[in-house]
Amino acid sequence: MRHLMSPLDFTTEELDKLFDLAASIEKDPQKYAHACDGKILATCFYEPSTRTRLSFESAMTRLGGRIIGFSDAASSSASKGESVSDTIRIISCYADICAMRHPKEGAPMVAAEKSGIPVINAGDGGHQHPTQTLTDLMTIRSLHGKLNNFTIGLCGDLKFGRTVHSLIHALVRYEGIRFIFISPEELKVPDYITDMLKEKNIPYEEVIRLESVISQLDLLYMTRVQKERFFNEEDYVRLKDFYILNASKMELANKNMLVLHPLPRVNEISVEVDDDPRAAYFKQAQYGVYVRMALILTLLGINV
Ligand code: CP
Repeated sequence: MRHLMSPLDFTTEELDKLFDLAASIEKDPQKYAHACDGKILATCFYEPSTRTRLSFESAMTRLGGRIIGFSDAASSSASKGESVSDTIRIISCYADICAMRHPKEGAPMVAAEKSGIPVINAGDGGHQHPTQTLTDLMTIRSLHGKLNNFTIGLCGDLKFGRTVHSLIHALVRYEGIRFIFISPEELKVPDYITDMLKEKNIPYEEVIRLESVISQLDLLYMTRVQKERFFNEEDYVRLKDFYILNASKMELANKNMLVLHPLPRVNEISVEVDDDPRAAYFKQAQYGVYVRMALILTLLGINV
């Protein structure tokens, strides 16, 4: 039995297979419409979500399976004090696979240790969000055409943004990737990540102004300032609108630069950018369904 806790749980060869499968699903969804007949996915979300939970539920439904779960810890027995370990033992009696989001870092890993079914980390605190990374890689591969030899700018909350941490870890395995981290001083990427980049001799630079580097980018990955992870409201209010990508900044960018965002956005991408052909974030959300369909099939060992 296999779980997904981090994007590194799959080799790059396994990821290629997964993305090939996702591309095949995109091309011919009908072929997979009954692949999970009789199977049940549990979505156990102790934190709010729109995309991740609903794309998992859409993915399982499109595969012919069914879904159970909760979208709020308050409506589960966690509110009575039940541990994640006990909850997953129970869910293992009811479902064939589980996607879990939790505000505590490592909680899905604790669940996986006691689980009788595959557990997918659907986001744990400020730590990792591996299925968002699979979505991001699938989007880059599909729209940019390759997963190597590009410069990617990651902009916004690089301290608390778990999608950023997962994506960097995944991208360092590909050739020729250069990172430009764009953030205010208070929201810089954690030291453990820059230490890892130094150790692997992966080029990166850290800047504050987006306008100073946007013309160098092949990909721009915007992120929301993570309000829920701040210790005080004052800091959040001061930093929340630090970056706003708008049409005038897009004029400085390469004509082929793709704009990605895991979403939800708040103000960091102006709606006027949505009509720019380089804006890929809604398409990115669509790829999230195909890649989660491929992941469910892979973890359940179902070949079509
Ligand atoms: N990208 C993402 O994780 O979105 P949700 O929080 O809506 O699931």
